[in-house]
Amino acid sequence: MEKNKSISKVVIRRLPKYYRHLEELVKKDVDVISSRELGEKTGFTASKIRQDLNHFGDFGQQGYGYNIQELYKQIKSILGLDKEYKAVIIGAGNLGQAIANYTRFDKLGFEIKCIFDVNPKLIDMKIRDIPIRDIDEINSFLEMEKIHIGIICVPKRNAQDVTKKLIKGNVKAIWNFAPIDILAPSNIIIENVHLNESLARLIYFLNESDD
Ligand code: NAI
Repeated sequence: MEKNKSISKVVIRRLPKYYRHLEELVKKDVDVISSRELGEKTGFTASKIRQDLNHFGDFGQQGYGYNIQELYKQIKSILGLDKEYKAVIIGAGNLGQAIANYTRFDKLGFEIKCIFDVNPKLIDMKIRDIPIRDIDEINSFLEMEKIHIGIICVPKRNAQDVTKKLIKGNVKAIWNFAPIDILAPSNIIIENVHLNESLARLIYFLNESDD
């Protein structure tokens, strides 16, 4: 794993895409793929793929292609998807419930243990088998359970306060959906997901293509 520290974040950001396509190929029992074929699937050039995958060892032979099983296993391990992660969701509204209902996150080794909310009407309900509990119980919950990831699905005015609670409870990674740049110490990993920004880019390119 030490070796991966030298791999640039730009390369790491491309890995989930390789991983997704390789998983499909593993399911179809395909053994080998060339950088050109992987390029057609991912939209990256064959030379970029060769450069990226060179970081992770020797999975292919010139002119023969990459061993899909090996490459898939290696990328899975680099991404840490061969381990189990426990998460909590804060905010059991539209988005929090949608994430809790999405069963395929389990395949990434990602288990949602609990959802927290302030709304008394939601507390003690369940989404699938996941309980919704009062946010006032989060401190004691986080003291008992080792939670790796906090998923913020509250309105933006409450996101910073929720972040504090997660950090106090020793949560080290935050998947933030609230439209705000939350502040946290540098040892806390924050991944922001902003669908609005993605939609704005789509709209820009839609208009550009009309010109
Ligand atoms: P919603 O209003 O349906 O749900 C928010 C929930 O948070 C409510 O159940 C509320 O009771 C709860 N809540 C409020 N303060 C809380 C606190 N301090 N502790 C615990 N729970 C608290 O809103 P929706 O549509 O689910 O959106 C949630 C957040 O996600 C908003 O910030 C919204 O802007 C954002 N969002 C982001 C998207 C993205 O692409 N990143 C897409 C959709 C929503």
